[in-house]
Amino acid sequence: MIDKSTIDKIYETAEITEVISDFVTLKRRGVNYIGLCPFHHEKTPSFTVSPSKGIYKCFGCGKAGNAVNFIMEHESLSYTEALRYMARKYQIDIVEKDFTPEDIAQKNERESLLVVTAFAANYFNQTLLKTDEGKVVGLSYFRERGVRDDMIQKFHLGYSPEQRDALTQKAIKEGYKTEYLIKTGLTIDKDGHLMDRFAGRVIFPIHSISGQVIAFGARTLKTDKTVAKYLNSPESDIYHKSKVLYGIFQAKKAIVQNDKCYLVEGYTDVIGMHQAGIENVVASSGTSLTTEQIRLIKRFTNNLTIVYDGDQAGIKAALRGIDMSLEEGMNVRVILLPDGEDPDSFCRKHHSQEVLSYFTRNETDFVLFKTRLLAEDAQNDPIKKANLISEIVRSIAIIPEPIVRSVYIKECAPILQTNEQLLYSEIIKFRRKLFESNPKLQVNQPNTVDPIKPIASETNLFEVHEREIIRLLLKYGNHILFEGYSEAKEKWIVTVAQYIISEIAKDELTFHHPIYKIIFDEYARYYFDDTEMATEYFIRHPNIEVVSVVADLISQKYVLSKKLFERTSNTYVETEEMKLSELVPSVILDFKNKKLLSIINTMKLELLQAQNENNEDKVQQLQIHIQHLNEVKKTFANHLGKRTILP
Ligand code: CTP
Ligand code: MN
Repeated sequence: MIDKSTIDKIYETAEITEVISDFVTLKRRGVNYIGLCPFHHEKTPSFTVSPSKGIYKCFGCGKAGNAVNFIMEHESLSYTEALRYMARKYQIDIVEKDFTPEDIAQKNERESLLVVTAFAANYFNQTLLKTDEGKVVGLSYFRERGVRDDMIQKFHLGYSPEQRDALTQKAIKEGYKTEYLIKTGLTIDKDGHLMDRFAGRVIFPIHSISGQVIAFGARTLKTDKTVAKYLNSPESDIYHKSKVLYGIFQAKKAIVQNDKCYLVEGYTDVIGMHQAGIENVVASSGTSLTTEQIRLIKRFTNNLTIVYDGDQAGIKAALRGIDMSLEEGMNVRVILLPDGEDPDSFCRKHHSQEVLSYFTRNETDFVLFKTRLLAEDAQNDPIKKANLISEIVRSIAIIPEPIVRSVYIKECAPILQTNEQLLYSEIIKFRRKLFESNPKLQVNQPNTVDPIKPIASETNLFEVHEREIIRLLLKYGNHILFEGYSEAKEKWIVTVAQYIISEIAKDELTFHHPIYKIIFDEYARYYFDDTEMATEYFIRHPNIEVVSVVADLISQKYVLSKKLFERTSNTYVETEEMKLSELVPSVILDFKNKKLLSIINTMKLELLQAQNENNEDKVQQLQIHIQHLNEVKKTFANHLGKRTILP
């Protein structure tokens, strides 16, 4: 971990306009700077940088944050990687903190392993390009396959000589330790004889997300079927196969730009697609996709398109694995290549334009693809059909977004020749089971009795309200909301923050949205110590998602209800400030009202269950409770009157 004082120093030194100017041409406008947004395509600049607040915000696409957010987003780096980038830019020495001696030993070991893999990658690459054997055997193989020189560069391809210990001897001579050669799997100890693992093969180095070589794939040049086509590095401290995707380093920028990631099977497929100009592509390297790999892709995009070879046999086996991507909330699509083609061969036979147009024409939504594929099989076979329905129910049920689920139900019901109602209730059953076995999913649990309505998750239900409360807190926290004089003629005031915090505390309400919750809780906690709670605190918050949300909220020019807007036409900014004493209480009341409705709904659900179980005591108890809450609801409604300002 990077020491806190180092982080502070980075924030103190880094000038946001300087950091961003490395990537965007900024022009001064008033106190701010503006430029063309690097995150979406635009012709007139709406990307705004505020040097005084230390934040940027694009009024076109909504992206916002501080300098570190910018580097993370633009360079596709993690939080720590972005901090290291800034430290490098401003020549700040990084102090690492909290390392136990074991941590240090392990870190040193990892670094040693990385040094060895970097050496080997260069050795293989130079052998391919500069030695006679490399050129005659390795390079001519790549040339025959049509791999261009710029791809050899980009993917740092290589060749390992036939001589059984060429790399090992060379490495030892250069002072690399045998221990690390063995731990990275480059060298095998065979009864005391040190041998190269990859001798006589062409080499595909596997890069980490930040571009370090962490492992290798090595293809044989022999056609002998008894020899494994590929050998891969074993698991090590620097290489965890299930967390890595081949090509992610070369693809990440294009994935962000296209907001889409293609998934293929092999090393050569990735290279073939790059060569055809399609750079947003990664490979799972022959194994089925893991949750960790999906999350890696999800850091860059929600849209995953899987490109399948044109043989139907493999597809059915792979279907299940893809369900995990649905579970992570990805939009999954499928492209089926013509018979007998894999992405590499297909890209070599067609021009870039042809490939892209084939992809666009043949891209199908995954759930529909799966439904159609299996439905073909199940025709006229009732048992198969029942299995098929439960298979599809499974796929739809694990999708976190309720709206998406209900769209699928509509589309799949006719293909399955069944009715929507049945699918809905099957899906609800499946989700119940899912929650029982996995409590962490419970945020998304259905909270309505009516199975026909799409189910909104708790988070979505309250998001608008929570967001508005946080915005008011950040923007007007220290504004005076009410003031007056006591009988003793002493002046009293209530600030917006005091009002909001005490109202929320009074009813013991909590926020659902994880980021709004962090902001609210910390704001409330620190407000008592320091009533000048500065937004600056949040702009430098260690949780970078908090920073992004706060930057977004405080740079919004205005967010006003329609009613206030209509009444006052042009002077909204002042108006919002002037109307705080009306606005703040009604936002809070609205939030409480929504909470109340959700509690009543949950109770109705419980009531239904109690009635089914003939649990008379519980039924009575719940009925009284619900009646009481309904009365509270009425008084809320009176207060809210026509002032309901949020949807
Ligand atoms: N693979 C592997 N070990 C094997 C076979 C395959 O690790 N013995 C992995 C490799 O990552 C390979 C991918 O599975 O890239 C896909 O396998 P395949 O389609 O057989 O290889 P291609 O990449 O298409 O290689 P080529 O075109 O050279 O046959
Ligand atoms: Mn191939």
